[in-house]
Amino acid sequence: AAIESGCARRDIDTDIYEEQLEARLGKSREMMRVVLNKAKSNPKRVALAEGHDEKIIRAAYQMHEQGIAQPILVGDKSEIVATASELGLEFGPEIVDPSDETWDHYTDRLYELRRRKGVTRNEAEELISGNSNYFASVMVEQGDADAMLTGLTHHYPSALRPPLQVIGTAPEADYAAGVYLLTFKNQVVFAADTTVNLAPEADVLAEITKHTASLARRFNIEPRAAMLSYSNFGSVENDGTKRLQDAVTSLHDDPAVDFPVDGEMQADTAVIEDILTETYDFSDLDEPANVLVFPNLEAGNIGYKLLQRLGGAEAIGPMLVGMDKPVHVLQRGDEVKDIVNLAGVAVVDAQND
Ligand code: ACO
Repeated sequence: AAIESGCARRDIDTDIYEEQLEARLGKSREMMRVVLNKAKSNPKRVALAEGHDEKIIRAAYQMHEQGIAQPILVGDKSEIVATASELGLEFGPEIVDPSDETWDHYTDRLYELRRRKGVTRNEAEELISGNSNYFASVMVEQGDADAMLTGLTHHYPSALRPPLQVIGTAPEADYAAGVYLLTFKNQVVFAADTTVNLAPEADVLAEITKHTASLARRFNIEPRAAMLSYSNFGSVENDGTKRLQDAVTSLHDDPAVDFPVDGEMQADTAVIEDILTETYDFSDLDEPANVLVFPNLEAGNIGYKLLQRLGGAEAIGPMLVGMDKPVHVLQRGDEVKDIVNLAGVAVVDAQND
């Protein structure tokens, strides 16, 4: 009987777990549906810098089939065609092969952009023909594609550096940052910066907060931002917490900031309404924050992964914010659905450009 009741308990637990999982997946699908529907209304050209990769080709097929984007596969044409055919994917994606014809105008442009940063013309030529991240970055910078995805087969920093150097940040921005959207059963949060800025100063944190709040609005979420720390509103005074307080002050002084933001505060203060409304009733936030700004890259990267792995959140991202054109750097283990989702986010960004 004990064994039987143990089994029954496990069945109930499994049912509850599956129900909760379904609810979380439902939330994440609902969030992505908003974005993918927007993308389908005006699909843009997305350059896929790793066009030879099997997952990228599968993702390109789905983007094409679902009308989310017009994929452009960058890479060796014969290799891409052979892989697509081995995969049984019948579609005619645009393929741009850096070795196919002369791309002198791309070399010229890269040289022009980087010659005062130590790049010779020969080096520019090598980068255009031999590094598809530079090729795709120039393609986007020149308007031959509207957005770019890369990173599946590279270390994150080496995939990120070419677009930072060639495309750069938007005119009103100085810093890019990586944001994850994490969906729970009844809640979503945007976590930043999880991938770019190692030790952001106050001005960087303020900028990251504004970029992330704008991104939240792209998902039809009204942002409420918290600057996270181990300290609550000055309970610990040192250079680290002062940096966060300065970021909040500059956001409070900025007339363009039209969303509630406060801190520094501990993570539980940020997400538990009772703590905010009872212990810290003076806070700008009277509902749990949905934009969580971490004090540095270690905290951000560790924080989102714990929320994903132990908290059971579904993660969408990393979405690069602050760039002049939509660029997203994938993670090495990303699946086809992650690639398609990020392409959808990039298309929606491109529609707003
Ligand atoms: N925002 C915007 N532009 C930037 C930023 C930034 N935060 N940081 C650097 N840049 C620009 C620079 O201005 C420079 O442009 P320029 O050459 O035209 O002047 C260009 O990028 C290259 O900058 P460098 O200083 O030469 O490059 P650096 O070696 O500092 O690399 C990088 C920048 C790649 C962002 C670096 O800070 C980095 O490695 N960050 C951490 C990335 C990382 O490891 N993330 C972990 C996540 S991976 C994961 O989760 C799997």
